[in-house]
Amino acid sequence: MLFGGAAAGLGAIAALGIESLTSTTAPAEAADQLHGNTVIPFYGPHQAGIATEPQAHATYISLALRENLDRAAVQRLLRLLTDDAARLTQGQAALADTEPELGAVPARLTVTFGFGPKLVELAGSSAAGIQPLPKFSIDRLQERWNDGDLLLHIASDDQLTVAHAQRMLLKDARRFASVKWVQPGFRRSRGSEASGTTMRNLFGQVDGTVNPSPQTADFNALVWNPDGSTTMVIRRIQMDVDTWDEVDRSGREFSVGRTLANGAPTTGSQEHDEPDFEATNALGFTVIPAHAHIRRARSENPSERIFRRGYNYDEQPTGTDISDSGLIFVSYQQSVAKQFVPLQQRLAELDALNQWTTPIGSAVFLIPPGCAEGGFVGETLFK
Ligand code: HEM
Repeated sequence: MLFGGAAAGLGAIAALGIESLTSTTAPAEAADQLHGNTVIPFYGPHQAGIATEPQAHATYISLALRENLDRAAVQRLLRLLTDDAARLTQGQAALADTEPELGAVPARLTVTFGFGPKLVELAGSSAAGIQPLPKFSIDRLQERWNDGDLLLHIASDDQLTVAHAQRMLLKDARRFASVKWVQPGFRRSRGSEASGTTMRNLFGQVDGTVNPSPQTADFNALVWNPDGSTTMVIRRIQMDVDTWDEVDRSGREFSVGRTLANGAPTTGSQEHDEPDFEATNALGFTVIPAHAHIRRARSENPSERIFRRGYNYDEQPTGTDISDSGLIFVSYQQSVAKQFVPLQQRLAELDALNQWTTPIGSAVFLIPPGCAEGGFVGETLFK
């Protein structure tokens, strides 16, 4: 990952002619404030946008391939989109970019491609590991949020950059595919909090504390397959913020087993304290109840773990509703069947959070390995 240093930041300020910033703010502070020119390398053994520290904005677009598209056409599509992504993520205009100025501020833009079963089979590979999930008892799935053939996951710290990249990619994709669904999501803006701060979801919870850390051996073993690929589960989970509001603070903390103030387990004081699942209160009940989300989400089998990297969504309420909010739950793991499914099955059977959360969309994608310059994402599938 490359971060624009102080010199690059100041250069960018000068290039943009923002003199008032340099005259009213100390130079070091000004350099910290501008990070639009920061780029994430596109080429490499893994696609970017997974081990990358999450950007503030992400849009997930699921495309349906046109009928009768042959293998050669799919390869052409992937070459085109790879080329667009390689340029845009480095702050360069895409080919035939009519608004190149919009691409000049990558702000850690990444474009990650995911393949649904149909695309994988068209390429000539087996889609056995990326079939739709089994139906869970809590699911209330709506077809308009399910599945797809090609996923574009576009993320940046700047929403305008995401919008431009989305448009450029869809311009090249439209001869081959149509949009099935689009899910825009967000976290806190870059610079609002120290980078590395665990995100908060729209229930106000610190969400993502217990998660494998990118670049560690643990993460690599749980997420990456030997060929550099991984799998992605994306679930649109509606969160009933209105009824959540009716529960008192201790009830809300009880349902997860962590405090709202800083995400510490209710048996500890700091976010990363280890929860004590055996601790009991004066009445003899466990402090973290049996149906608390963190107790149910933790398996005794350490290989049944996933890497969570979701985003909040907040759509416009209609009528007398005051919210249409939720979580774009996204997880990466080597194996959907061995890591994600047992975990989701346990949560579907019992989880206090189920009272306020409803999965309404679901999809599974293969995330092919990254590629080298001159290649295209997904090339290794075309045997
Ligand atoms: C932990 C919220 C859905 C898996 C947590 C935590 C919160 C949370 C607040 C505690 C902090 C942390 O470690 O991240 C939510 C909400 C959900 C949701 C609001 C739905 C809207 C899911 C789903 C899964 C999942 C669908 C997987 C199928 C986990 C795991 C942990 C966790 C593995 C860490 C458990 C541990 O401590 O070992 N979640 N979650 N969550 N959640 Fe969720």
